[in-house]
Amino acid sequence: MNKAEHYLGIMICETRGKLPFPEQSFFRKLCLIGRRYGLFVYVFSPLWLRAEGIVSGYTYTKQGWTHRMFPLPSIIYDRCSYSSWEQYAKVREALERMMKRRNILFLGNGLKGKWSVYRMLIKDAAILPYVPETVEYEGSQQLRSWLDDHDGEAFLKPHSGSHGKNTLYVRLDEENGKMHVHGRDQANRLIRKTFREAAAGFGWIRRFIGSRKFIVQTYLRLNNRNGEPFDIRALVQKGENGLWQLTGMAVRKGKTGTLTSNLHGGGQAAKVSPFLEQEFGKEKGEAIIEQIRQLSARIPEILESGHGRLVELGIDFGVDWQGRLWILEVNSKPGRTVFLRIGDTESSAESVENPIRYARYLVLRQLRRVNS
Ligand SMILES: Nc1ncnc2c1ncn2[C@@H]1O[C@H](COP(=O)(O)OP(=O)(O)O)[C@@H](O)[C@H]1O
Ligand SMILES: [Mg+2]
Repeated sequence: MNKAEHYLGIMICETRGKLPFPEQSFFRKLCLIGRRYGLFVYVFSPLWLRAEGIVSGYTYTKQGWTHRMFPLPSIIYDRCSYSSWEQYAKVREALERMMKRRNILFLGNGLKGKWSVYRMLIKDAAILPYVPETVEYEGSQQLRSWLDDHDGEAFLKPHSGSHGKNTLYVRLDEENGKMHVHGRDQANRLIRKTFREAAAGFGWIRRFIGSRKFIVQTYLRLNNRNGEPFDIRALVQKGENGLWQLTGMAVRKGKTGTLTSNLHGGGQAAKVSPFLEQEFGKEKGEAIIEQIRQLSARIPEILESGHGRLVELGIDFGVDWQGRLWILEVNSKPGRTVFLRIGDTESSAESVENPIRYARYLVLRQLRRVNS
C-alpha cells in the first residue's frame, strides 16, 4: 500500500480544552498503530475544512500532538458525539461539502438512536424474546395507561441519550395515588422525587422530557444481591477480514440504590465470568455468557441489513433477578475504557487495533476493485 495516499480521518465534534477533542489516549494509539498498517491517521472536524480543499487537524508523532493541514481523508472513522440537533446539522452540512470534493469511505455509519434500533431488532425472531417491550413516549395520558398495564412501573430514556443521563424510573402507587420518580438528570446527577398527586408527577415528567424524543420501556429488575444495578457491555467489531468478532465483555455496576450502571455515572467494572458465577452459580452463569455470545453474533448482522455499514457495536445486556437476559441498548460509537478497568489488556489492545485493521481491509478491497 502506498503510505502517502491513505489518510484515515478520525471525525470528532469539537470540545473545549488545549486539544479540542475527547478520547485523546485512544486517538493517540490509533495514530501510532495506523502507521504500522500504512495509514496516516489524524483527528479532524468537518468544520475545520478550508476553501482550498484541505483540512486542519491533529496527529500524534514522537514530538507529541501536532496541529497542521492535511489532504482530505480517503477514509473516515466517525467518533463524533453530537450535543444538540443544531450541532448535528452544522457538522453534517460541512461533511457534505467535503464529500463533494473527494470520494470518502466510511468505516461505518452511526446508528440513529434507541427507537430505530428497537424497531430493527424486533424484526428478528431470534432476537425478539430478549428485547424489553418499548413504546415511544407520547404524553401523560399514554404513560398513565402504560402504568395501568405494567404494575404501575416504567423506565424512560431518551432516544439519543448516553452515559445513563436523563433516565427515569417511574412508579405509580395504586394504593395511595403517589408517584415516585428516580433517575438521572442531564448532568448525570441523581433525581429522587415523590409526588403526592400523580397529576403533578405526570406534569413534571412532561416538562423534564420537553421536546425531546423519549422511549418508555418495561422496568427490569437489574440489581445484583447487593442491590447494585449492573449490566454487561459486549464489544463486537469488524477486523482485518471484514468479519464481525466479539472483542470482549465486562460487567458495569452502579452504586446500591441507584438506577444506572454506566461508568460515567460513577459505575465500577468487573470481570463477567466470576461475577455471574457468584450471582447465579456456575452453570447458569455460563449459560448466560453463551446467550450473550450468540446474540452478539446475530445483532450486528440484523442491524447492518436494516441500517447499512457498521464498524463496531457496544451492546448493553441486562440480566434480571431471575437470570433472564435482556438487550438494553446498542451503541455504534462505543467507548473501550472498560477493558483496562478490569485488567483485560488483550481485549483493550484488540479494541483499539480493530478499527485500523478494518480500515486497511476496506482500502485494500477498494484498490483491488479499481485495479481489476
Ligand atoms: N428497561 C430498563 N429497566 C431498568 N433499568 C434499565 C432499563 N434500561 C436501562 N436501564 C439502566 O440504565 C442504564 C442506561 O440505559 P441504556 O439503555 O444503556 O442508555 P444509555 O447508556 O444510552 O444512557 C443501563 O445501563 C441500565 O443500568
Ligand atoms: Mg448504555
